[in-house]
Amino acid sequence: MLSQGNSWNLLRDITADQFLIMMSQLGRPEEITLVGVFDKFGRGSRQDVELPLHHDGDYSARKAAEKGLPFDKKIDIVGLYCIKGGETATQIESDGVVSEIVLKAGEALVFDNRKCRHGRTGSVGDRLLLRVWLERYSDAG
Ligand SMILES: [Fe+2]
Repeated sequence: MLSQGNSWNLLRDITADQFLIMMSQLGRPEEITLVGVFDKFGRGSRQDVELPLHHDGDYSARKAAEKGLPFDKKIDIVGLYCIKGGETATQIESDGVVSEIVLKAGEALVFDNRKCRHGRTGSVGDRLLLRVWLERYSDAG
């Protein structure tokens, strides 16, 4: 799945059940979130805004640090399952190369959050994703 030299993977024709089972085998679930446009302020991931390339967890860690709180989530692997597609392009950067993917329903993007940065451009609209954060099992590839 995410072996050497393969720090991200796009899966097609996968159901949400299959996605969740696969993710649960790749690592220890830290957080599962429905990602869409729900707010007008606060976290960028919940608004219809473009997101620059980033690693998941960086924003939360910064916010926690501002409040003098710890942020102890280990986000080694991120899985994005597309429930409802849209126009927004997801960018994924690996080894300095940025790829752009417009996720369609039934597709999943899985990436190594330590090695890859990701972002998005274009309007999110009513696109819906299921996002899974995993701590890598030490014996998983
Ligand atoms: Fe993100």
